[in-house]
Amino acid sequence: VNATDVIISCMSLGIMVTMNQRLDAEIITLVTDEFGYNVEFVGLDLEEMIQDDKDLEENLKTRPPIITVMGHVDHGKTSLLDHIRNTNVIAGEAGGITQHIAAYSVECINNQSITFLDTPGHEAFTAMRARGAQVTDIAIIVIAVDDQVMPQTKEAISHAQAANVPMIFVFNKMDKPNAKSDKIREQLANLNLLVEEWGGKYPSQEISAKLGTGVDKLLEKVLLLSELLDLKSNPNKPAVGTVIEASLDKGRGYITTMLLQGGTLKVGDYVLAGINHGKVKNILDERGKSIHSAGPSKPITILGLNGAPTAGDKFKVFKDEKLAKQLASRREQLQREQNIRSQKHLTLDEIGRRI
Ligand code: GTP
Ligand code: MG
Repeated sequence: VNATDVIISCMSLGIMVTMNQRLDAEIITLVTDEFGYNVEFVGLDLEEMIQDDKDLEENLKTRPPIITVMGHVDHGKTSLLDHIRNTNVIAGEAGGITQHIAAYSVECINNQSITFLDTPGHEAFTAMRARGAQVTDIAIIVIAVDDQVMPQTKEAISHAQAANVPMIFVFNKMDKPNAKSDKIREQLANLNLLVEEWGGKYPSQEISAKLGTGVDKLLEKVLLLSELLDLKSNPNKPAVGTVIEASLDKGRGYITTMLLQGGTLKVGDYVLAGINHGKVKNILDERGKSIHSAGPSKPITILGLNGAPTAGDKFKVFKDEKLAKQLASRREQLQREQNIRSQKHLTLDEIGRRI
């Protein structure tokens, strides 16, 4: 059957299509029926084929918790992480405002490892906070006691609730003169969030990120809650995880920061991330040191992808390089078609501007 007849047949069914358009199974069935054919769907969906198998209980090992720190701008998220890591990141931030998600793995009490994600508090970065909440096990909500529950505090709480992630509240800047945290507890109570000291279920901790007071107690609470969550994953399988950010580096090519959620990633593995793929040439830890492999909950940066995947894209290691490439090009094709389709909905005004 030639293409024009198929298009005409679609039109008679009230569906306007072009020569290069993908049709869904339902329409294909209707159209083939028009021509007196029966349709049989034989190809397995590639995307379905790569879905993760459920790990067997005996293969699961305890993994470090992933903790996302969220809250209103300037309430002290980066200062808290700086104190925990013994570094000084805020000093290097333009205007002291965090503009991207940063991930760190830290060894604390009893050499237990914790992975922290720092998120920006500025209102412009909603998507990053949402992504941070989606990949985390626990959300720390930082609120400065010299301020109050602010719009992005509420937004961060909503992200954590939407992702069904437990929260720990941190009352920061307790070193400030006349610092009082009860006002904040009350504001939280008004949002139906009762902290433990007030008979509710949410752990909280007063701290001064500047002086470091209360931070050890906070870490104890984080580890206690993580233990209750009984976090496990299988380290002995090809790695899977989420892209945190990616960019093009002049000297090194595409560099992709990601969070490993299961399995172990090794140099030489073949990775598919969104529409990009490639062989891992180098793995760097968060201090920029080359490592040979990395396991669950570790934040790493890899070199070797053929482009910059989008933040939030899932990634996966493939034994079969060809399958990874095939999937990448299929995703790219679908994305291109989607773009063409969405361009069709241009308003007259936009067309005017384009011309
Ligand atoms: P964004 O990432 O831009 O949302 O800000 P942030 O939440 O990471 O805040 P940041 O750590 O950059 O701190 C903001 C300002 O508050 C800085 O000037 C810090 O020095 C100050 N600050 C943070 N923690 C404390 C604290 O415990 N006490 C006092 N006095 N100042 C603090
Ligand atoms: Mg910050």
